Amino acid sequence: MAAFDLPAVLAVQSQCYGDALLESSEALASRLTLSPETCWIAALPDGSLAAYLFTHAWPEDALPPLDGVLARGWADDTALTWFVHDMAVAPGGRGTGIAQRLYAASRDAALAAGLRSSRLIAVQSASAWWRRLGYAPIVAGKHAEKLADYGDDAVLMGCRL
Ligand SMILES: CC(C)(COP(=O)(O)OP(=O)(O)OC[C@H]1O[C@@H](n2cnc3c(N)ncnc32)[C@H](O)[C@@H]1OP(=O)(O)O)[C@@H](O)C(=O)NCCC(=O)NCCS
Repeated sequence: MAAFDLPAVLAVQSQCYGDALLESSEALASRLTLSPETCWIAALPDGSLAAYLFTHAWPEDALPPLDGVLARGWADDTALTWFVHDMAVAPGGRGTGIAQRLYAASRDAALAAGLRSSRLIAVQSASAWWRRLGYAPIVAGKHAEKLADYGDDAVLMGCRL
């Protein structure tokens, strides 16, 4: 993914999420800036965007704010996890395996960067889909309040890489 992909990313986002989960261009751009090697898109032969994936390293004991502008603000000895922020496939591209391919490309980059665990927040009933990739629910505990910002059905999930 590159910065010039963001307008097309926003268009796919609007096809995939309800209003409460839409994030600004600035919030998404900050995730790309934080970790360009682990943010991916899939384009169709005509150049249109079929899917995108934002992921980045993040402190293991924290959750990034929905629609917040992120920056690297942690100390060098902080335990980090690979945070899988947002996977979206435009309706016309679903069921093609494109999501798993984006995931695999990004996970390889996360592994190469030395990350060995992953976390995500499943929304819109997607926890069953993430289970297929090896994720399991984690008790929200101190993260419950921030998790609620992601919707009533948001589920914190994690796995070892
Ligand atoms: C979630 C998403 C990325 C999966 O992509 P996809 O191309 O549909 O998924 P795949 O082809 O890998 O898998 C399809 C299977 O997953 C299931 N599935 C897809 N989305 C699901 C969801 N939200 N909840 C439960 N199951 C889901 C399908 O029913 C299908 O099941 P089947 O194999 O038994 O027929 C896509 O549906 C999407 O972009 N959804 C909108 C954005 C979103 O909610 N993203 C997840 C945020 S955590």
